[in-house]
Amino acid sequence: MPSRTPIVVGNWKMTQDKASAVALAVGVHQAWGAGSGVEVGVCPAFVHLDAVGAALRQAGSRVILGAQDVWTDPNGAFTGEVSLSMLTDLGVQLVLCGHSERRHVIGESDELVGKKVSAVLNAGLRAILCCGETLSEREAGQTDRVNERQVRAGLAGVKADQLDRLVIAYEPVWAIGTGRNATPGDAQAAHVRIRAVVASLFGDAAAGAMRIQYGGSMKPDNARALIDQPDVDGGLIGGAALKAETFLPIVQAAVGSR
Ligand code: PGA
Repeated sequence: MPSRTPIVVGNWKMTQDKASAVALAVGVHQAWGAGSGVEVGVCPAFVHLDAVGAALRQAGSRVILGAQDVWTDPNGAFTGEVSLSMLTDLGVQLVLCGHSERRHVIGESDELVGKKVSAVLNAGLRAILCCGETLSEREAGQTDRVNERQVRAGLAGVKADQLDRLVIAYEPVWAIGTGRNATPGDAQAAHVRIRAVVASLFGDAAAGAMRIQYGGSMKPDNARALIDQPDVDGGLIGGAALKAETFLPIVQAAVGSR
């Protein structure tokens, strides 16, 4: 099996005030320390990126600063949106693209998500492309079809030499924030199919090197069983990322899995 460094990223969504966001980032940094064998990132809300980035830099931290979204155009009349240059100016290194709440609550299309992935990679940053089926799609036996459609659209403008800056997050929508995680076997099966889609687009070597995270109610007590699956390369964590005490055990589970 190719060795893929696991990556565990906290998606803080629309939570925290400035002081608690900074304290959480510093807490994650201090608890993780000089840990190795895993990449760790945090994605605060846009308005906290500046303060969190400054705190991480001041601590000399290796925790990756991520944004939860971005707009595709470089500049102009896009009221309420945030550009890539605004993010890089604040030290952002990674951007989530197509999180299920963006797709299903805000209404982002597969095509828009693909444009965001390309824009992020073209700007030299790292992207996490999220995909995953809703409960009704799962019950209709559409899981693999939905993931394939979202991954193909998400990768439509991506060049082979950009793939090392891309991570895919499989996040079944019915598992996000519900306390109901996919079984390790279900996650593994979905990841294998997603990897096969990457292989059909970019070849076996690129697919073998692609990190595919699981997300959806990953917690300290289920993280190890999920990340121990051979094709599960870490996690994208919501609720359990909001406290260093629950985020760090997941990071440790990822270290121990390889
Ligand atoms: P959850 O969220 O861990 O709270 O289920 C995961 C996510 O939305 O990325």
